[in-house]
Amino acid sequence: MTAQLRGFGLLCFLLLVFPLRAQVTPARLSEDPRTGHAIDSIIASLTLEEKIGQLVQFTGEVNTPPAGPRTQDEQRALIRAGKIGSLLNVVGSAQTRELQRIAVEESRAKIPLLFGLDVIHGFRTTFPIPLAGAATWDPDAVEMSARISAAEAASAGVHWTFAPMVDIARDPRWGRIAEGSGEDTFLGSVMAAARVRGFQGTDLANPSSLMACAKHYAAYGAAEGGRDYNTVDISERTLRDVYLPPFRAAVEAGAGTLMASFNEIGGVPSNGNRHLLTEILRDEWKFDGFVVSDWNSVGELINHGFAASGAEAAGRAISAGMDMDMISGCFLENLPTLVRDGRVSTSTLDEAVRRVLRMKFRLGLFKDPYRSVSPDLEKKTVLTASSLESARDLARKAIVLLKNEGSVLPLRKDLRCIAVIGPLASNRRDPVGPWAGPTDTNNVVTVLEGVRSAVSPGTKVLFAGGCTINGTDTNGIAAAVSSARQADAVLLITGESEEMSGEAGSRASLDLPGRQEDLVRAVHATGKPVVLILMNGHPLTIAWEASHIPAILETWFLGLKAGSAIADVVFGDYNPSGKLPVTIPRTVGQIPLYYNHKNTGRPPDTADRFTSKYMDLPSTPLYPFGYGLSYTTYGYSGLAIRSARLGTTDTLQASVVVTNTGKRAGSEVVQLYVRDEAGSVTRPVRELKGFRTVRLDPGAAASVTISVPVSSLAFTTLDMKHEVEPGTFRVFIGPDSAHGLEGTFTVSGAAPQH
Ligand code: NOJ
Repeated sequence: MTAQLRGFGLLCFLLLVFPLRAQVTPARLSEDPRTGHAIDSIIASLTLEEKIGQLVQFTGEVNTPPAGPRTQDEQRALIRAGKIGSLLNVVGSAQTRELQRIAVEESRAKIPLLFGLDVIHGFRTTFPIPLAGAATWDPDAVEMSARISAAEAASAGVHWTFAPMVDIARDPRWGRIAEGSGEDTFLGSVMAAARVRGFQGTDLANPSSLMACAKHYAAYGAAEGGRDYNTVDISERTLRDVYLPPFRAAVEAGAGTLMASFNEIGGVPSNGNRHLLTEILRDEWKFDGFVVSDWNSVGELINHGFAASGAEAAGRAISAGMDMDMISGCFLENLPTLVRDGRVSTSTLDEAVRRVLRMKFRLGLFKDPYRSVSPDLEKKTVLTASSLESARDLARKAIVLLKNEGSVLPLRKDLRCIAVIGPLASNRRDPVGPWAGPTDTNNVVTVLEGVRSAVSPGTKVLFAGGCTINGTDTNGIAAAVSSARQADAVLLITGESEEMSGEAGSRASLDLPGRQEDLVRAVHATGKPVVLILMNGHPLTIAWEASHIPAILETWFLGLKAGSAIADVVFGDYNPSGKLPVTIPRTVGQIPLYYNHKNTGRPPDTADRFTSKYMDLPSTPLYPFGYGLSYTTYGYSGLAIRSARLGTTDTLQASVVVTNTGKRAGSEVVQLYVRDEAGSVTRPVRELKGFRTVRLDPGAAASVTISVPVSSLAFTTLDMKHEVEPGTFRVFIGPDSAHGLEGTFTVSGAAPQH
């Protein structure tokens, strides 16, 4: 017998006597997860139930329908039995440590739990909502906000955030528009990558990193009528060209996970959509992380009419490429039988387990399941002075100046009397916005407080609520009017409450809710200079206000430092530089209204009845995508294209001279749009392809060059290929999507044959 054969015989004997399952101590394994060696030996050591347990996620709050443990004891028993791989909504180093201890000390397989939480725009330091983050057009600042949020949440035992939300939203009625980066694919992709980098840092195993989860895959924002959870029916081309690129950007930035969306696309719910979860995500994009369902969305395959039972739902989901079942219990209850009966193959199960374990490895959980968290670390990490300063900085960058007739803004700090009016003026709860996490709203700086601490000691500040956000009572309006009459200037803070956007926060009307418009009209009637300050998660239809109120600031929901940031802008300590990441319609009747629409065969022409428009409305928006004013003005001149004849592997370099023609220093976001004149399929009238921010002193000018790789002009052609087609392109560089200097360039190459 050769030495090799003898060795093999000995190995077989050892395996018989000591099955591999009993020999693996996962908590101590530390091999490179990329080789898969350690992971495969763990998988081989697990029972069927333990494998399935890795794919099961329940919530920390017990007794939460539709499934899951009813008591804490039951929850702990399931952890001990290895039947839970992940928990969401468990927060705090003490709580997570205790449950982790049970998993790694009292369960047989000793596999660490993964703790997930919605850390959407902050943990204890609440930053502006993501839509506001996008309005900064500053990916570095957004990345920093995600980094700070990650460190705070990780110090409280969280490993994984269900963010970023990268859904493109072309319908502002959809409440979740607040959670993403708005309507544009390019801006959305830049922000998606920035947030992933911020959350995950350069090393997922660093205890201050959170694993990211790009959600909701896919096209959740295309819900019919903007109604949350609703049906989606879009073409494969629109899916690929508009809705998928931010997910791809997140995957390329290293996002460890994706969350499948609640909706169906063309009859196939995402949770059972093999085309999305396997063919595109794994086969095309080579994603090696895992996919989690949304809350109960595997179970909801039954409501969709895509599965007749929980067993069928579990089978269709895992076979399509779903790895972890959030909450529904369908995997826990049904996979054992499905695998035993061969309806779900062991290799499908093992692959899902492998993906989950791979990410647990990358997070360093097998080395230190507690990731060094402690109450002490938590206290030291959250709400630091520098985090709060970053929150204030991001908040003021997010403010968009919509109107400033007669330069009402900025206000002087030494005015005799300022009236601060409106239901959101001294409100501490709503400025944090939806999905604010475990923030303490006592820490919110209100607008009233922000104003009081900014003005000179001699300035009198009056306050009147006027009305509630959504009520019908108008009794407070008289007092508000009387305060306005006494003042030299009025700040009128109106908008939505935080629960009017976010999940299930869709609205059929986007007008100011309740009696707020009555308040605005009454205060306007005093004839005093009024500054309208909007706080909201949806873009609002403010046509009357836009034509009557001289100054309007769109401030979204700005987080803990809302009041300070607003005061910074109102009194000119910060010159506004935010630009709209969404189109603001005149009325909901215009929706969907987005800048990168198709031209149609009959583009709108007011002189011609038989063109594409409404009879009773202009076809333009109230404010276009990319729009935003400053306290200074900018001139654009001298558009130059370095080489106007390009090949498909070249880079377009277009430059423009931007001059600060006003009296204050400021920052301008210079935007570059492209129009592909003719293609094998129709192309949008404009598409954002690049932007750069330039800071200029009064009178100063700078040449701003924006580079666009020609490869980024690719789209899904008639043959369903992702390609750049040769031809003529128009390029526009300007301050928003509706204006700018125009030039042309051509891309040469073989023309497609059709
Ligand atoms: C449902 C939401 O759709 C999703 O975005 C969120 O991450 C999960 N609930 C978990 O809270």
